[in-house]
Amino acid sequence: MSKFYELMPGARRQQLGDMELLERLAGPITSETSCLDRMSENVIGAWRLPLGVVPSLVVDGRSHRIAMATEEPSVVAAACRVSRLANACGGITSHADRPVTAAQIMGCASPECARDAVRWIGQNVQMLLETANRCDPALCASGGGAFALEAQILEPAPDWPETFVVAKLFVHTSDAMGANAVNTMAEALQGELSRSLSGYVPGMAILTNDGAGRMVHAHLSIPYAQFGAFAHCEGRDIAVRIARACAFAQRSPERAVTHNKGILNGIIAAALPLGQDTRALSASILHEAHRTGAHKPLTCAELREDSLEFAIHLPLPAGFVGGFKKNPSVAAAFAFDGITSYDELCALLSAIGLIQNLGALWALVTEGIQAGHMRLHVRK
Ligand code: MEV
Repeated sequence: MSKFYELMPGARRQQLGDMELLERLAGPITSETSCLDRMSENVIGAWRLPLGVVPSLVVDGRSHRIAMATEEPSVVAAACRVSRLANACGGITSHADRPVTAAQIMGCASPECARDAVRWIGQNVQMLLETANRCDPALCASGGGAFALEAQILEPAPDWPETFVVAKLFVHTSDAMGANAVNTMAEALQGELSRSLSGYVPGMAILTNDGAGRMVHAHLSIPYAQFGAFAHCEGRDIAVRIARACAFAQRSPERAVTHNKGILNGIIAAALPLGQDTRALSASILHEAHRTGAHKPLTCAELREDSLEFAIHLPLPAGFVGGFKKNPSVAAAFAFDGITSYDELCALLSAIGLIQNLGALWALVTEGIQAGHMRLHVRK
């Protein structure tokens, strides 16, 4: 008898039984199911989310539509509301740092061997970088590749008596998210270290989701007069309330975590149809929020003479190229959103995070969010 993973989706369903329940859970078997089967493991169908649209958001001078997959109607409604304000203010501007992903190659050694290992790694950086880059000639040809390596010792701690040697490899991932490329390089280096270092016990080799090398910045300047016209009240007053909400999130980690959840509402909804690794995005973004040791908001507000300056700074481990784009629906989402480069992808994801947060704060400091939630609920 074939193993479960070897079966076709329809045959898997037969084996699971209760076809009516499976049809409700995973939809009908269609011509698309075999494509889904190639994308994941033990596939029996698809699980769907509503897809909403922000018809226009101007980012870096270009109008984009944004497809958003979410079950929360107020997420799309708030993004639409703030997109109209943002567009009237001239749109959002953004900047993405050169994307760098790092990997950790970890092993254990006695304190003396650990010191020798760190010295040896330092003396052989060039050879080790060449070893890493041989793993991915295509990445190197596109202008990316491994470019730095540093090693450190983590001293024994009360919970674990061994000394860790950690080599950190830095890779410019070009237009890719780069997880596979970086992990392949890290494992190649682990092999090299295991062969070359005496007393070194290999532990693991894996990228870190610390996105310090993949920061993206987006900014919106809202003249008080424009805000007033949109909010039908005194624009500076509303700007002060929003700036106060950001200050509150700076002081209160309990508020900051909810503030940042609102940012993720927008980013995850926009990233899902684009085939992005939403778990990596969440991990990096939340780690960044906690970088100082306390949870901090990822947006900031500044009150100027005539305007509110609203900005977001966050890491985005996003990918513009990769196998995921063979999925026809992902390729369609890129075309629909009008994303033609890695920078545009980062611009759009950071912009949606920014307007999502602004929309949530705008509602929270005025009528509260329940009124909008309930209006949408009743309409359903
Ligand atoms: C709800 O999904 C998101 C909010 O809680 C975000 C926030 O409080 O800033 C409204």
